[in-house]
Amino acid sequence: MFVYGIHHYIGFVQVEMYNLGLEYRRMIVWNYENGWSRSTKTLATHYEPILWFSKPPGFNYVPIREPYKSTERLKHPITKNGKVWTPHPDGRLAGDVWHFPVLAGRRFAAERVDHPTQKPLALTDRIVRHFSNEGDLVVVPFAGSGTECVSAARNGRQYWGCEIKPEYVELAARRLASTEAAPPLPDRVG
Ligand SMILES: C[S@@+](CC[C@H](N)C(=O)[O-])C[C@H]1O[C@@H](n2cnc3c(N)ncnc32)[C@H](O)[C@@H]1O
Repeated sequence: MFVYGIHHYIGFVQVEMYNLGLEYRRMIVWNYENGWSRSTKTLATHYEPILWFSKPPGFNYVPIREPYKSTERLKHPITKNGKVWTPHPDGRLAGDVWHFPVLAGRRFAAERVDHPTQKPLALTDRIVRHFSNEGDLVVVPFAGSGTECVSAARNGRQYWGCEIKPEYVELAARRLASTEAAPPLPDRVG
């Protein structure tokens, strides 16, 4: 289970998840790669916490790999503990700080729809692809513009979405009607 969009109430939500008997896995920090601020009177917002809980004892996880920070040092053999270390062709294992831009500016005009808190597909695709299996049912209780449902659909999962505002239900339905299979992502599976 991934819960986000809860900066102010994260403490309450986390306690409730413990009360439900769910197991804490990690708090992932989604770093807004392109920065973001709604106010000049307080700290600029550069991240969003994502709570990851699961039912004990297990969870699905397909390793996430990201490009190595320095490609220069990979050009020469690297020795670790007397052995030559070979870099993984798909990059290093990702940590719990994820860098994805928010959908601001002209760069994301094609992805943007008319919803105030639309999540980027890059983020929701990562969650769906790496923490569920093909054919699984992805449950999205607060669907908004339907981003998580789109991620499920384009990655071979089923989805069940719930949204209280009829205009957003229509918006999500329109997005889903034009959803095609996902292109290969930069976070290739190792
Ligand atoms: C943060 S937005 C979700 C945005 C979504 N992740 C996306 O990328 O578009 C939360 C949505 O939950 C909806 N919502 C709020 N209360 C709800 C309720 N009780 N039942 C269903 N939907 C609700 C809101 O209308 C809003 O569209």
